[in-house]
Amino acid sequence: MFPVLSFDYQPATRIRFGAGALGGLADLLPAGARILLLYGGGSIKRNGVYEQLVGALAGHDWNEFGGVEPNPSVEVLSRALAQLRGTGRDFILAVGGGSVIDGAKYLAAAALHGGDGWELVCGRQPVVAALPVGAVLTLAATGSEGNGTSVISRLSSEDKLSFRSPLLQPRFAVLDPDTLSTLPDRQLANGVVDAFVHACEQYLTYPVGALVQDGSAEAVLRALYRLALRFDERRSLDWRQNMMWAANQALSGTLGLGVPHDWATHRIGRGLTALYNIDHGRTLSIVQPALLRETAERKAAKLGQMGERVFDAPGLAPGQVVERITALYRGLGMPVRLADEGVVGAGASDRLMSQLRRDGPLRLGEGGMLDDAAVERIVRACCDD
Ligand code: NZQ
Ligand code: ZN
Repeated sequence: MFPVLSFDYQPATRIRFGAGALGGLADLLPAGARILLLYGGGSIKRNGVYEQLVGALAGHDWNEFGGVEPNPSVEVLSRALAQLRGTGRDFILAVGGGSVIDGAKYLAAAALHGGDGWELVCGRQPVVAALPVGAVLTLAATGSEGNGTSVISRLSSEDKLSFRSPLLQPRFAVLDPDTLSTLPDRQLANGVVDAFVHACEQYLTYPVGALVQDGSAEAVLRALYRLALRFDERRSLDWRQNMMWAANQALSGTLGLGVPHDWATHRIGRGLTALYNIDHGRTLSIVQPALLRETAERKAAKLGQMGERVFDAPGLAPGQVVERITALYRGLGMPVRLADEGVVGAGASDRLMSQLRRDGPLRLGEGGMLDDAAVERIVRACCDD
């Protein structure tokens, strides 16, 4: 029997979308705020974004912290936290991709938490208050600009965990496709795959008769599939603006309302990043094909629906749909096994399994259908040479 749909949904992020939208940032910034401008390794200083920010911030009390790294760590963020507290900041403007925005969410919650911020990340303490965050997105992939999730690493313990709260949802997000112009191809391809897998995690489970959620997920997946096929047009505004909105919609929350979720590919992928520092999107293209081969029979109904409605190929067997997905990733130059990413040699799957089992035996996927042994089969299939 299918579950009855029920959910509580409050969209909280104001989205300013369009080419040139960054030019209107000034009127989104709250008057009188004491702003921390947070950014990454410096791409914004090479592509003209920083100059536009400085213009928008004129007349505000602001300072900046640069150097948030991809897969942001508590180690680096603790320095930003000290500056934020020391200078009495009360608003965080995050400018970058998912890493900077996630870092800002962590700071927003940690700033108002009495103890160690890692307690919030690992769920030992709930988020009960957070400073407001605004986002300027420069990389279309994660959807972090429009959701309440943050993914943070701790280098000292090789951990990478996600935590979420409605309090972490950015107050506004500027989505200006012009900011994507300087992204290297590698990041654009990572973004297509990350967004594609986000939609899959909320769609490729089992049917519950949720017509709107299915149709929305299929629209996002079809858009991303077409953008992948038209990857040679990636420098056009048409491609960039569709990509930016597709990635936002893939993880803004609406696709997953009231339906079963999977998220096993993400959970296993986070382990790969924690151990081998592999880009998030690339961990997903490594793990998901093996995961779908393991689960193809149980996901058969949705895989068939995806074949027909996303790939326009009715009548494909579940395994054939999995091969279409794998070919899509290969076509983008993405790795589909750990060895493709240059990690070779014995022991990778053992190492990953012990990282994943830190909190005890595993139960992943929709309804916990992947037991520890099934996860191990998936990990061996994608990690062993
Ligand atoms: O640091 P800078 O110099 O800015 O360079 C970045 C970084 O090196 C560069 N970049 C960003 N915008 C650019 C640019 N380079 C040139 N031109 C631009 N316009 O791209 C590199 C990667 O940036 P990063 O923010 O790390 O990438 P992404 O947006 O893919 O974020 C990945 C992080 O988000 C987490 C991932 O786990 C990972 O830590 N995720 C967050 C989610 C969420 N909050 O909802 C969900 C996702 O599933 C994901 O887990
Ligand atoms: Zn992701």
